[in-house]
Amino acid sequence: MGAFASQLSARIHSPEADMSSLHGKVYVVTGGLTGIGLQTSLVLALRGADLLISARDIPRAQTALRKLEESHPSIAKRVTIFAADFSTMDGSRKGAERVMELTTRLDGLINGVGRLIDVPWSVNEEGIELSMAVNHFGTFVFTTTLLPLLRKTAKEPGSDVRIVTVGSNAMMQTPKNWKPSRKAFGETQAPTETKLNAFMVKFARYGTSKMLNTPFTVELQRQLAAEGSDIVCVSLHPGGVATDGLLQYGVVISAIVKTLWLSPAQGALTSLLALTSPEVRANKKYRGAYLHPYGKIVKPEFAPATDPGFARELWELTEQIVAEGGLKV
Ligand SMILES: NC(=O)c1ccc[n+]([C@@H]2O[C@H](COP(=O)([O-])OP(=O)(O)OC[C@H]3O[C@@H](n4cnc5c(N)ncnc54)[C@H](OP(=O)(O)O)[C@@H]3O)[C@@H](O)[C@H]2O)c1
Repeated sequence: MGAFASQLSARIHSPEADMSSLHGKVYVVTGGLTGIGLQTSLVLALRGADLLISARDIPRAQTALRKLEESHPSIAKRVTIFAADFSTMDGSRKGAERVMELTTRLDGLINGVGRLIDVPWSVNEEGIELSMAVNHFGTFVFTTTLLPLLRKTAKEPGSDVRIVTVGSNAMMQTPKNWKPSRKAFGETQAPTETKLNAFMVKFARYGTSKMLNTPFTVELQRQLAAEGSDIVCVSLHPGGVATDGLLQYGVVISAIVKTLWLSPAQGALTSLLALTSPEVRANKKYRGAYLHPYGKIVKPEFAPATDPGFARELWELTEQIVAEGGLKV
């Protein structure tokens, strides 16, 4: 994928040094003060970008930001935290509306928020299963609410607007015949979990909801291109990354993950590349693509995820449910 990608490979310890200046650019990074997001935010701010970062626990986010500013004084005043809880469409929309109060330009969005694997089954007040709500509906509502601002910025001379959505190769856990349907989004019955299958049940729920990040990106890219916008949309798997959430599965798994998986800084590289690489802007093959580390275009682990018909069907149903304000099964 060209010089930029090889420079941004895991062997390079300061990717920020390989990126051109981002002064004057404004990015939103959701979940940008924890895990992979924190490292992504750090590099962008070190290169001079101004960042708006979502968090739902504001005091915790402020503490994380203070620590970051203490260790990297040059980023002081570059980061603004805004509150957003993606558990409901309403919360996601309010988060995006807050962004529009805070900035009049937006050069890019990294959708990094994710409800991870080891969480209990639950349905939100809008009737949507919570991992679907956060990972799919939250991303959909947040992004589409910000589209007018992204489109406006993309029309400005010299702009380079991109929407990067952090999906996951856990999409391989999606049931073979899965299709978008109200029932699939609601999952109104708690699945039977036993001690033995609990992890796999949770993993499949996570993987299916993260899978949707990829067709969402495919259809978003199609629509933007059809209207003549040159916004670039990319989804990606960041790699297996040793972030705090994954280090809680006991001593053995934690040791394996720490030893064999990518560090959060390495996990940030594919997002950084998708957001800033000149190659991704220049080469049309990246439009709507699904990437693996570090920037490799791959076929999705769940084959329909990049199918345009599947993507459109998903979009249309999601849009209907959003318009109705919730799920009526
Ligand atoms: N680590 C990996 O190996 C891996 C692999 C593939 C994909 N990913 C994806 O990478 C992204 C970052 O994950 P990570 O490993 O860096 O873990 P992480 O630090 O826990 O990141 C997840 C972020 O999502 C936020 N979040 C979760 N539920 C939310 C909600 N309802 N409303 C608002 N924010 C919410 C979390 O906020 P709180 O801190 O408040 O919970 C956190 O900031 C996720 O999308 C994940 O699915 C990770």
